[in-house]
Amino acid sequence: MTSNQDNLIFTWRCPSNIAFVKYWGKKSNQIPCNASLSMTLSSAYTEVRLELIKKVSISSDIELTYRFEGKENEKFEQRIIQYLDGLRNQFSLLNEYQIVFDSTNSFPHSAGIASSASAFGAIALALLDAEYQLTGKEIDNYFFEEASNLARLGSGSASRSIFGHYAAWGEAKEIEHSSNLYAIPVEKVHENFQNMRDAILIVDDQPKSVSSSVGHALMNEHPYAQQRFVQANERVGELIDILHSGDYDAFIRLVESEALTLHSMMMTSNDYYLLMKPNTLKVIEGIWEFRKQTNIPVCFTLDAGPNIHVIYPDYHHEAVRSFLEESFQNSIIDIIFDKIGKGPEKRENR
Ligand code: PMV
Repeated sequence: MTSNQDNLIFTWRCPSNIAFVKYWGKKSNQIPCNASLSMTLSSAYTEVRLELIKKVSISSDIELTYRFEGKENEKFEQRIIQYLDGLRNQFSLLNEYQIVFDSTNSFPHSAGIASSASAFGAIALALLDAEYQLTGKEIDNYFFEEASNLARLGSGSASRSIFGHYAAWGEAKEIEHSSNLYAIPVEKVHENFQNMRDAILIVDDQPKSVSSSVGHALMNEHPYAQQRFVQANERVGELIDILHSGDYDAFIRLVESEALTLHSMMMTSNDYYLLMKPNTLKVIEGIWEFRKQTNIPVCFTLDAGPNIHVIYPDYHHEAVRSFLEESFQNSIIDIIFDKIGKGPEKRENR
């Protein structure tokens, strides 16, 4: 924070995450229909610099500038105005200051990485940090719980990016201390799962034909929704046990089934659709064959899109990297190599 209270700067870096048990379906106010669990990434992050400039006079209008990679981004700006509008009662700074966000991503925009998770994570952290500084509060564990709640209101999956390593979000009787309002870190992870990697294979970099918000909404009338929500909650409980015990085989079965279940939900909704591409299937079958031949505990997962996240322990990195680069050179656009990360970071103000 600068010493001048008329002009304050807060900068946070927040990573993206990849869900192993998927959040799919939501109620009003960004309450999830089921619990989810993800791994926080390391190299794929958004950095947000928040500048507060004292307004000439206090007003209830939100005065916002949102720049992405140096350029004003009107579409995202509208989404942020709506988001901040919902927070006005909670944050008096929104009445007192003009808000200027400068946001950059470490990964290409079209990479199919969930940029809303890292973006809303960083926005929530910067905003809450500002509020804490202005009200003289110290950053403590509760800060991160509150930031997770704030991030959730922007994008559900962002709630999990506030914590490093593994995080679970959504209330379920199978998960101790779980909440629909914020994510919680998964503790006591077996060493087998402490150094996992995620190689993201970009098979298509075009905008998705059906957005995630439409996908969530289609779960409202989905014929299999209730069963799916029960299954996901049970699976988060199972996955926490697997992360504790270090069982790779059980991990692979659960994670791959989750990815295919998510896409089955899309294919069986009333307005059915398909986000996988022919090369998505080609890569999946290639991974299965490679695993059979090498016994390397490598598996895949998918977000709501055609790109493939290949998940494996760090000590198999060289073997998996050569396999991916050699086998899929002609079927994919790019590979982004990422790994498990420690979570968000407050940056020096510039
Ligand atoms: O946070 P949203 O609304 O973009 O939804 C994310 C949904 C999935 O990425 C498909 C699953 C998840 O849990 O991250």
